[in-house]
Amino acid sequence: MPKKRTEFPHTTVVLAMSADGKIADIHRTAARFGSPVDRAHLETLIAQSDGVLFGAGTLRAYGTTLPVLQSDLLRSRQQQKKTDQPVQIVASRSAVLDPDYRFFRQPVPRWLITTHAGSQLWQGKPAFDKIFTLETAQGEIDWETFFQELRVLGIDRLLILGGGELVASLLAVNLIHELWLTICPLLLGGSAAPTPVAGAGFLANFAPRLELLTVQTIEQEVFLHYQLRA
Ligand SMILES: NC(=O)c1ccc[n+]([C@@H]2O[C@H](COP(=O)([O-])OP(=O)(O)OC[C@H]3O[C@@H](n4cnc5c(N)ncnc54)[C@H](OP(=O)(O)O)[C@@H]3O)[C@@H](O)[C@H]2O)c1
Repeated sequence: MPKKRTEFPHTTVVLAMSADGKIADIHRTAARFGSPVDRAHLETLIAQSDGVLFGAGTLRAYGTTLPVLQSDLLRSRQQQKKTDQPVQIVASRSAVLDPDYRFFRQPVPRWLITTHAGSQLWQGKPAFDKIFTLETAQGEIDWETFFQELRVLGIDRLLILGGGELVASLLAVNLIHELWLTICPLLLGGSAAPTPVAGAGFLANFAPRLELLTVQTIEQEVFLHYQLRA
């Protein structure tokens, strides 16, 4: 059940998947199988957010992030007195990331949420505008405290771009409110190919339950919008 307390940002996961439920192929290459309509859908959701959060695996696959480019979306952000680009937040325990990724040259604000060990790699370097080290006694990210800090910093709407490991971690601590899934017309297969939710999995009796809000079919793709049931 998602937490409703107002000190957390409102969180929305957005993912494209194959018709057999994979978000990438077995080599975990960048998932570029969505149509231009799906890309525009993603860009619109990014433009509506104050921050976007993604796992290091996603950054390693793409090496880049999708900025807001469409002029109408940029205008709408300006009218709402928002910065042109939402903050791009990378989640990584290790923080082992190639500084040559194009991501580090894109004109977007960059934050990192990591462990104490991870933060050592980037201290004193200009790559990230902010580095958060919020670690539990078990060496995991303290997501509740991090999300509270984000809210204090003005991140009211947070978009979560994947991948499956990050989504699983946030579901496990009930920090996800909504989910957009685009079903794309291809089959990727492969038992090792990533899916929208990785991690240890949930037993059926305790699985997070969804409520379907909308279904829209555009050409060959189906856009599913869910909210997590309270
Ligand atoms: N189809 C789509 O819409 C879509 C969207 C996004 C990604 N993808 C695909 O998904 C694949 C990447 O997925 P992935 O399973 O590797 O997931 P991921 O969550 O992007 O990356 C996993 C890595 O992120 C960090 N991470 C994730 N959860 C964390 C947590 N709770 N605490 C601390 N660090 C955390 C860790 O980084 P460290 O190893 O540095 O500690 C972990 O190894 C790629 O193939 C990509 O193409 C597809």
